[in-house]
Amino acid sequence: MAKQIQTPTDVVRCEWSGNRANAWDTNGNKRTSEITVGARQKAADGGYLLGKFTNKAGKFYWKRWDGEVSQNTSNTQDSSTVEVPQEHEEILQFIHNSYDLKPKMLMMSELKWKYLVRSGVRGKNIMMTGPAGCGKTMAAKSLVNSLDRPDFYFNLGATQDPRATLIGNVHFEKKSGTYFSESVFVKAIQTPNAVILLDELSRAHPDAWNILMTVLDYGQRYLRLDEQDGQATIKVANGVTFVATANIGNEYTSTRVMDKALMDRFTVVEMDVLTESEENELLTYMFPHVDSTVLGSVAKIASLTRSEAKSDTARVNCGISTRTTVELAGLLFDGFSLVEAAEVSIYPQYDDAGGVDSERTFVKQIVQKFCDDGSSDDLFNEEEVHEATVA
Ligand SMILES: Nc1ncnc2c1ncn2[C@@H]1O[C@H](COP(=O)(O)OP(=O)(O)O)[C@@H](O)[C@H]1O
Ligand SMILES: [Mg+2]
Repeated sequence: MAKQIQTPTDVVRCEWSGNRANAWDTNGNKRTSEITVGARQKAADGGYLLGKFTNKAGKFYWKRWDGEVSQNTSNTQDSSTVEVPQEHEEILQFIHNSYDLKPKMLMMSELKWKYLVRSGVRGKNIMMTGPAGCGKTMAAKSLVNSLDRPDFYFNLGATQDPRATLIGNVHFEKKSGTYFSESVFVKAIQTPNAVILLDELSRAHPDAWNILMTVLDYGQRYLRLDEQDGQATIKVANGVTFVATANIGNEYTSTRVMDKALMDRFTVVEMDVLTESEENELLTYMFPHVDSTVLGSVAKIASLTRSEAKSDTARVNCGISTRTTVELAGLLFDGFSLVEAAEVSIYPQYDDAGGVDSERTFVKQIVQKFCDDGSSDDLFNEEEVHEATVA
C-alpha cells in the first residue's frame, strides 16, 4: 500500500529573538507556546519549516515540513480545543522537571523552587522575601537563568536617583535643545517576555515604588514618563515578568516598610532560613576541604543565634545569616581559625554598646563555647549558653 503523504494544516517558520526561538505561522500569528522548545530551536538553526499534523488518534503534533506552504489553512474550531492542553502539558512538564534546573549551590526546598518557577512561567510578579543573606538574590537570579528568556537586572537598593534609573534623563545641548534619553528599564519593559529583576526593592526610594505602581499592576501595565503632564506613557510588553526581592519580616530598620498596595501587586515567595543541618550540608558541599567538625560548629553557632533572635527574651536582634556563614567558612578554608574568622566576619555585625550586656558579648560567648577545646559542641546546650552569658 502506498504511503499517504499528509499535508499540514498549519506551517510555521522559527526565528531566533534574543535567546528564544519563536514560531510564526503564515498568517503572522505567534505559535511559540504550541511547540516544544527543542523543536523550535532545531527548526530555527536548521532553517526549515514545521508543519502541524494530526495523528490517528486525532491529536496534533508538529514536525519538519519540506513541502509547499500554500495549502496552509487557518485554525479550525476544534484544533483550538486541543491547543490548550498541549500548551498546558508543556508547562506542567517544565515545572515538574524544573528542580534539575536549580543550581546545586542554592539550598532551597523543592516545593519552594517549583512554586517560584511556576510563578515565573505563569507570568506573575514575584516578590522573594526573607531576612538579609538568606539567598533571595541568588534564588531570583537562578530563576532568571532557568527561564531562557531575555533578562534585565536592576539593583534598586543601590540607586540614589530612581527617576533616572527607571525613566531616564533629560539632557540639554546647545544645538538641539533639550532631549530625553530613556533608561535601560524603559527598554527592558518593552522587550516581550523579558524577566526583569528588581533587586532590593524594599530598600528603594519611595519614588521608585510610586513609579513602579502602574508598571506592576496587572490591569495597567504602563510606565508614566512624566508625572507632571500625565500624558506620555510606555506600555509594558506582553509576557514581561518582574521578580523583586525584599528584606521583610526582619530586624533591618533601614528597610522601609513597603506600601501594602505595592505588596499586593506581587505573588510572595518566602525564602526559608536554613536549618542547622541544611546549613551544615551547604557548607560541607561548598568547602569539602575544611574540617567537618568546625563546619558543624559554624552551623550550630548560626542556628543558636537564629533561635535566640526569635525568642521572647532575645538578646540579639538577628541571627547570623547564611551569607555570613559562607564567608566565615571561606576564611576557615584560607587558614584562619574559627576565633579569628568570627572576629572579622561576625562580631562587626553586632552592636557592642552596653559592654557585658551587649549583643556582641552575647554572640562572642556563644562562639567561644565552640573554640575553647574545639570539641565542646557535644556538651553544648541552651542552659550553658545562658550560664555563659549570665556569668
Ligand atoms: N539558601 C542559600 N543557599 C545557598 N547559598 C546561600 C543561601 N542563602 C545565602 N547563601 C549564600 O549567601 C550569599 C548571599 O546570598 P543572597 O542571595 O545575596 O542573599 P539575600 O539576597 O537574601 O540578601 C550567597 O552568595 C550564598 O553564598
Ligand atoms: Mg539580595
